[in-house]
Amino acid sequence: MYPFIAWVIFAPNQTNLNYMKFFIDTANLDQIREANALGVLDGVTTNPSLMAKEGITGKDNVMKHYKAICDIVVEGDVSAEVIATDYEGMVSEGLELAELHPNIVVKIPMIVDGIKALKYFSDKGIRTNCTLVFSAGQALLAAKAGASYVSPFIGRLDDVSTDGLDLIEQIRVIYDNYGFDTEILAASVRHPMHIIKCAEIGADVMTGPLSAMLALAKHPLTDIGLAQFLADHKKASANG
Ligand code: G3P
Repeated sequence: MYPFIAWVIFAPNQTNLNYMKFFIDTANLDQIREANALGVLDGVTTNPSLMAKEGITGKDNVMKHYKAICDIVVEGDVSAEVIATDYEGMVSEGLELAELHPNIVVKIPMIVDGIKALKYFSDKGIRTNCTLVFSAGQALLAAKAGASYVSPFIGRLDDVSTDGLDLIEQIRVIYDNYGFDTEILAASVRHPMHIIKCAEIGADVMTGPLSAMLALAKHPLTDIGLAQFLADHKKASANG
C-alpha cells in the first residue's frame, strides 16, 4: 500500500515516461524485416514514391503490400497514403485503407480538401497522418482538424536552405501551448544527427531510412575498445 502511494506522489508525469518512436520510411519488406529484428522499431511510413520504387502498382498489389507490412510490424502503426486529391476520393480511399488492418494510419496530404478529410476521419475515430507539411501554419491546421500525426519534412526543408529542425521546434511549442494530442512525426530524416536533434527537441516520432538508425550505433572508440577487450581475453586465455 505505502509503496504504491509513494509511487503516485513521486512518479514522473506521463510526458517523462514517453520516448521518441522510431518509424522506418520505406516500402521495402527486407529493410522493414531487418529494422524490426533490431527490436526498436515502432512503425512504418510509406508514400506513393516509395511504393513505386518497390515496383508495387495496381490497387490489389498495393493493398496486399500494406497487409504484408502490417504482418511484419505487428504492433506498429503503418502509414498508407491516399492518391486522390479531392475530399470524396480521399474519404473513400482512406476508408478502404483503414479497413485493411487496425494498424493502418491513413496518410492525407496537407491541402484544403485534405483538411476536410482529416476532420472526417478524426470524427469517425480513424487515425491519420497529415503529410507534406512544411510550415507551422500547416501543422496548426492539421492539429485543429484532429490529425493523429503531423509529418513535417525536415530533410526537404534543409534541401532548400531552410533549417527543418527549426520547424520541429516551432511545432513543439505550438502543440504544447494548447495541449494538442497530434504527434509530431519528423519525416524526411536523412542522417543520425537529424534523429538526435529531433529527440532533443522532443519530436514524438522520427521516420527515416534504416541506414540512419544503424548509424546511431556506430562509434570508432566502441570498435577499438571491443577489439582490445577481445585481444586481451585471447591473450589471457592462451596464458592461462
Ligand atoms: O516521410 C516522408 C519522406 O518519405 C520523404 O523523405 O527523403 O524523400 O525527402 P525524402
